Amino acid sequence: MSHRESPVLIAPSILSADFLNLGRDIRMLNQSSADWIHVDIMDGNFVPNISFGMPLLEAVGSIAEKPLDVHLMITKPEKFLKRFKELGADMISVHYEGSFHLHSTVMKIKELGMKAGVVLNPHTPVHVLDAILPYADYVLLMSVNPGFGGQKFIDGSIEKVRELRRLIDQQKLQTLIQVDGGINTDNAHLLIAAGADVLVAGSAVFCDEDPTRVINQLKGLDN
Ligand code: DX5
Ligand code: ZN
Repeated sequence: MSHRESPVLIAPSILSADFLNLGRDIRMLNQSSADWIHVDIMDGNFVPNISFGMPLLEAVGSIAEKPLDVHLMITKPEKFLKRFKELGADMISVHYEGSFHLHSTVMKIKELGMKAGVVLNPHTPVHVLDAILPYADYVLLMSVNPGFGGQKFIDGSIEKVRELRRLIDQQKLQTLIQVDGGINTDNAHLLIAAGADVLVAGSAVFCDEDPTRVINQLKGLDN
């Protein structure tokens, strides 16, 4: 049984969308039960891949009717926060591993009027969050190594969700737990039971012939 009374939030990652039909895919998300639109920004430096940047975010933001959840996999994320806000970001998450001054970056995201998330790579233990947790609106636990869609879910991630749930509940915080990577209709219920609040799914949604149905299934609305 989940700690949540409301259904888990679903944030489809447009990294796996059809870029030749991106407008169609965003409108599909607008019509679906998806809660946030997850946008993966990669710089080829922090992660071994380059995804897309400012012009694409701006285009998506011009038609998106759901909050834009921007996951920054870039070095020096603090340099670009204002620009991402101007382009339509509603929330921004930055990696613990990529931020020398994480507290300052989190505060800057919030001062700009956005929700702030802190991301942990699969090898980073949850206890490093102790000091930053009260300041973060959400924590994103990576359940694959960041950089690519379509990778296999790392099983140990479920225990990390449980551990983080305990930490958040012990401190009586409202911080949301988001999980990202390799999530599908087979493992979503395990993450929800462990205490996840938001599930990111890229390939499971966009590589299916009926993305709307998958979003409903991930949310537990359609079995
Ligand atoms: C990976 C990205 C993910 C990715 C998830 O670095 O952060 O958001 O798009 O894709 P799937 O759901 O296919 O693992
Ligand atoms: Zn992501």
